[in-house]
Parts: sequence; C-alpha cells; structure tokens
Amino acid sequence: MTKTDSNNTAIFPVFKPRTSQVPIRHFALRPGFVWGASTSAYQIEGGIGAESGRGRSIWEDYFDARPHLDNGEIACDHYNRMVEDVAMIKKMGLKAYRFSVAWPRIMPNGKGEINQEGLEFYSRLVDELLKNGIEPYLTLYHWDLPAALEKEGGWASRETCRHFAEYTQVVVNRLGDRVKHWCTFNEPEVIVAGYIGEGLAPGLRNPSLRVQVGHNLMLAHGMAVKALRSYSKDLQVGIVLNLVPAEASNRSKAALDAARRHWQRNYAWYLDGLFKGRYPRVVSLEARRHGVAISQEDMELINQTLDYLGINWYLRQVVNSRGKVLRVPAAQETLMGWEINAAALTRMLIQMKADYKLPPIYITENGAALKDEVVEQGGQPAVHDLERMHYIYDHICALEKASLAGVDIRGYFAWSLMDNLEWSLGFSKTFGIVHVDRKTMQRTVKDSGLWYGLVIKVNTVGRGHG
Ligand code: FCB
Repeated sequence: MTKTDSNNTAIFPVFKPRTSQVPIRHFALRPGFVWGASTSAYQIEGGIGAESGRGRSIWEDYFDARPHLDNGEIACDHYNRMVEDVAMIKKMGLKAYRFSVAWPRIMPNGKGEINQEGLEFYSRLVDELLKNGIEPYLTLYHWDLPAALEKEGGWASRETCRHFAEYTQVVVNRLGDRVKHWCTFNEPEVIVAGYIGEGLAPGLRNPSLRVQVGHNLMLAHGMAVKALRSYSKDLQVGIVLNLVPAEASNRSKAALDAARRHWQRNYAWYLDGLFKGRYPRVVSLEARRHGVAISQEDMELINQTLDYLGINWYLRQVVNSRGKVLRVPAAQETLMGWEINAAALTRMLIQMKADYKLPPIYITENGAALKDEVVEQGGQPAVHDLERMHYIYDHICALEKASLAGVDIRGYFAWSLMDNLEWSLGFSKTFGIVHVDRKTMQRTVKDSGLWYGLVIKVNTVGRGHG
C-alpha cells in the first residue's frame, strides 16, 4: 500500500433498489433539510508524517504506548486522496459534508508556529467541496489535541482553552470567507472520557478530573464562539453533543430518579450549561467536591447564543433504580453492543423541546457498525448492507416524527462517509456507507450509500438543491 497512489476510482456497483424492503420515499421534513455524511480528521486522513508538517497529537502517543492496536498513520489516506473523495461525495449525491480540522496539522505545537501546508490542505478541501456544490460543515475539535499541549496539562488546564481560541482564530481567518457552518467541539462527554479511564486518548485514569475537564471544554467552546463571532456575525456557530437518553427500567420513583440523575450527570450537564447558563445540581456538587471553581462569568461565556445544536445519536440506555445501566434482553444491537432503538430518538427530541429553548437541530452523526461482506458483482466489488439501510431509514423516520411534533430539525449526516479508524477499536468496526479496502484503499459505495443517494434525490428535487 503506498500513501500517494491515487489511481483508484470510486466504484459504484450496479444497484437494484430493494424498495420492497427499504423504501425510497419523500420524508415530511423541513424545506431545505440538509443531507450529508460525516468524518473526522484523525479517523480518515493519515498524512501524519514529518513531511506534512503536522505535529503529533495525543492519539500518536496513545497508540505508541499500545503498538498492538490499529492506528491512524494511514487511516483512509484521505490526506492524499482528498480530490477523489470529494468527487465520490458529489457522485453519491450528498449535499453536505461534515469534517474536522486537525489542530496539530495547523499548529504543530498547539500554539505559536503555524503550518501553512496544513491550512492549505483544508483550504483546498473547502474549495473542492464548494466547486462540487457540497456545503462544508467544519468541526474545530474532534479529539486530536496536539501532544505538546497535553504535556502542559491538556484539557485539565485552563491554558488550553486560550490556545484553542487562538487556533480557532487562525482557522477562521483562513476559511471563514468560504465556510459558513462552524462547530467548536465534537462530543465533550467523550473527550472527558479520555481523562477518566475509558479507553481513549490521552488515556488518563483520573475520575476526579471529570468536572474540571468538562468545564474547561465548555469554557474553550465559549472562547471559540467569541473568536468566530468577532470574525463575522454571519457565520453559523454551534457545538456537537453526543446525547444518550437514560430511560428508567420501570415506572418506580427510584428508577425514574436514577435515570434522571444519570442523564443530568452525563448529558444535561452540557445542555444546561449551554442553554440555561447553569449546571445541574449533581454536577455542581461534584465540582465542589473536587475544588473546581466555576464563576458566574464562566457561565456567561458558556451560555452564549448558538445558531444550531448538533446531536450525535447512536443509542439509548436503560437505567435501573440503583443507577446501573442494564442490557436490554433480546434487544437488537450493533457490533458496538449499542442497542438499536430509533423510537428513543423521537422521544428524546420531543422531551428536549419541552426542557430547553433550543436553536435548530442537526443530527450530525448517526449510523451503525455492522458486519459487512464484500461480494463480487459483475466483476466489481459490492456490499449489500441491507441492515444499515434499515437502520438509517428507521432513524430518518424517527426524525420525521419528531419534526411533525414540532421539533426544529434541519439536517441529517450519516456516520460515516467511509469505513475508518474507530479510535481504539481499530478498523474492524465499520460504520461507513462507503467501504474502504484496507489493502488497496479502494472505495466502494455500499448499497446503503447508493440507497441514501436516492433518498436525497427524492427529497431535494425541485428545491434548488440540484
Ligand atoms: C462518535 C464519534 C465518531 C465515531 C462514532 C462511532 O462518538 O464522534 O468519531 O467514533 O462515535
């Protein structure tokens, strides 16, 4: 496998829509609803060698310490295949593409010196997308902190927030003339997980850092929002939260209370901070216990107006009266062990509408790791991932229901555009609507991707979306 071989062409197997099994139909969603797919830098780019000018991220350190695991050295080689990948996105009929910028590619040490080559890469990506009529949705931080900053305390240090604002300024100065949709952070809750022992970089195991790290992420978000707004009032600025609703295992008061506490401690924490300007009591108490200072000014910074909320949705959890997360007997699950339950998405969105004054919502990630088999069809590879098609269809139906119930949902992004590095779980957990051959890097649009393209067509025809 070479890093620079870009001769491969995306392959589109002959697709016979199995409409009797998974419909291709018009959904009752808002006019102008955005249809896209998501990726993140470390999971797909590769191109991390010295020649790229990119600095190290916490993930290189993480995988160096665990050399038996798959890592992001090559990933999907997107860094070298960007133009072909954009052509594929266009051919698939997607209207929007959500990607992240790698901070260490822009500022190898996390601060100070700027790597122009890194900025140029994203500038070319944005130009390529726009040229092909695909709207870029840019995320500033999808988990790849520059390793140099981790050595200075990482997200446990408030200094990192200032550096993040500086980095944001550099990126928006270069791309703000063309990128309209900006996201500060992807999934603060999972970033925190990397500090408290849950198998993600930087791989710390210190539960007492939980609130400090989460609060710093919220502060960094607030500072980045200011930096973006100071560049231009016309940008659409938001954040992406992973939300996992906690549902009670029975209707007893104890179980309902335990489920509420679980939700508040892990998820409402961020929602309350962002949209109410205060943290839930369970989080404030934890902050006090660990001596985390949270001022009124901090909360004002966190509670700035946002233009949208991105939600990554994969699963719900069922919690018993002792606060324990239960495995639901006979539940359908993905390879991640995540329960498939689209109806819970509708319930969560309707509940959130009652609990918060929210900006418009985009589902910025949703998808399933399932067993994929590459077969030969007419001399070409094909992946008949009917189950993934069902999964995506059911979740779009769930959004349609929420939308009809008055929730303001503006878009859906499938996770992921292509099979990629599922962090510490490696390449075996494939979420893509495009298959990536690990040896040749050849892309093959799966049946789910072909089906999704047809759904997009049916839902955008005659609306000025092409
Ligand atoms: C989300 C992450 C994304 C991917 C999916 C499966 O939590 O944002 O990078 O790992 O899960």
